[in-house]
Amino acid sequence: MRDHNFHAEMNARHLWHPFAHPGEMRDVPPKVIASASGVRITDDAGHETIDAVGGLWCVNLGYSCDPIKEAIAAQLASLPYYSAFKGTTNGPAIELSVELARILGEDGMARAFLTSGGSDSVDTALKLARQYHKLRGEAGRTKFIALRKGYHGTHFGGGSVNGNTAFRAPYEPLLPGVFHVPSPYGYRNPFDEEDPERLARLCLRALEEEIAFQDPSTVAAFIMESVQGAGGVIVPHESYMPGVREICDRHGVLLISDEVITGFGRAGAVSGARLWGVQPDMMTCAKAITSGYFPMGAVMASERVAEAFEGKGGAMVPTGYTYSGHPVGCAAALACLAETERLALWDCARDLGPRLLAGLEGLRRHEAVGDVRGQGLMAAVEIVSDRDARTADPARAGRIFEAAYRAGAMVRWSGANLVCSPPLTIEAEDVDRVVAALDEGLSEAA
Ligand SMILES: Cc1ncc(COP(=O)(O)O)c(C=O)c1O
Repeated sequence: MRDHNFHAEMNARHLWHPFAHPGEMRDVPPKVIASASGVRITDDAGHETIDAVGGLWCVNLGYSCDPIKEAIAAQLASLPYYSAFKGTTNGPAIELSVELARILGEDGMARAFLTSGGSDSVDTALKLARQYHKLRGEAGRTKFIALRKGYHGTHFGGGSVNGNTAFRAPYEPLLPGVFHVPSPYGYRNPFDEEDPERLARLCLRALEEEIAFQDPSTVAAFIMESVQGAGGVIVPHESYMPGVREICDRHGVLLISDEVITGFGRAGAVSGARLWGVQPDMMTCAKAITSGYFPMGAVMASERVAEAFEGKGGAMVPTGYTYSGHPVGCAAALACLAETERLALWDCARDLGPRLLAGLEGLRRHEAVGDVRGQGLMAAVEIVSDRDARTADPARAGRIFEAAYRAGAMVRWSGANLVCSPPLTIEAEDVDRVVAALDEGLSEAA
């Protein structure tokens, strides 16, 4: 294997990274992860840590899931590729659609449209929402409403519904007809409201007012993460998503639940929408569908949505990807979902989540910790330079991230947030080790 210095130099010369400044690669070289086993990763300098990020919120089964590896190898040997565009398909794609409809049946999901990842799923869902209304004779419903601080991937549709200015500004103008409403984010919100239930009510009112202001007959869909992930693990009050469902129903607006992070267990339930007792009209899935072992995603649609496409007056779906229904990805997903169910990973997240959160809560004794939030095995510590003023301190978060890495845990440094989303196969002792590494990082960067 090439050594660390060679990697750092070649990386700086030739490789551009998502969400990274290409000109800073020499000064801040990325960690080169060379191998992984269980919930641990090892970099090319031989340093081993617990992967408290789960790759990128996706490696729910850890790195040693042989059934997925074997399924991929077997599928490569028998049929490495075939298209699912009109006229052809393949066995694994069909089987996967059946499994997804079964696993997400309680969420009201009945049909699958397969994609190559989360951004593909989001853009497909937005397109399907517009087409749904057109097929039903409501062609004027074209607008989308989304949450501030939301993250829905990087294509132009998802990029447009994203609620983070820094990700939007370089690519503007984005899709017209997209509007954002306040997120139920207790630590920072325009209402200065910390009580989660009252905040939920205020946010719901803002959503309904926006729909009324736009004119409901022009609104196609509201898209939200059932627990906001990349925005900093923002956990809504339990009344929020049911309230959204009610408002959407009242105004004929489709509800798209973006389950790219929360789908298949991370939040402590099979889906985030299920956690809140809500059946959306569509779900976008990716990441844990293959535990990150293969790029793969799916849009799930309810019977009601399906009816518009399949019934009288239905039409073809003129969108999709070369790798929609990729047989190797589908085989990986089938094995992954079988393991996820066998191990009931949603229960693991539900049972261990409180331990992680309690550990992180203990870190509030450090002055730099402004807020701690979590749901299931997704959690964030928000770093501030001034507790009273709640001044976000991304630079200090970066220093803590580095120190925690040295102390044995890879967390995710995202702005002023340090995020934990470990494999759901993690053991209790390793959860404690992640907290201890963050503790050490906070002490070192004080
Ligand atoms: C909620 C959500 N939606 C969509 C995406 C985009 O997924 P991908 O990066 O696979 O395109 C992400 C990625 O993190 C996400 O968190």
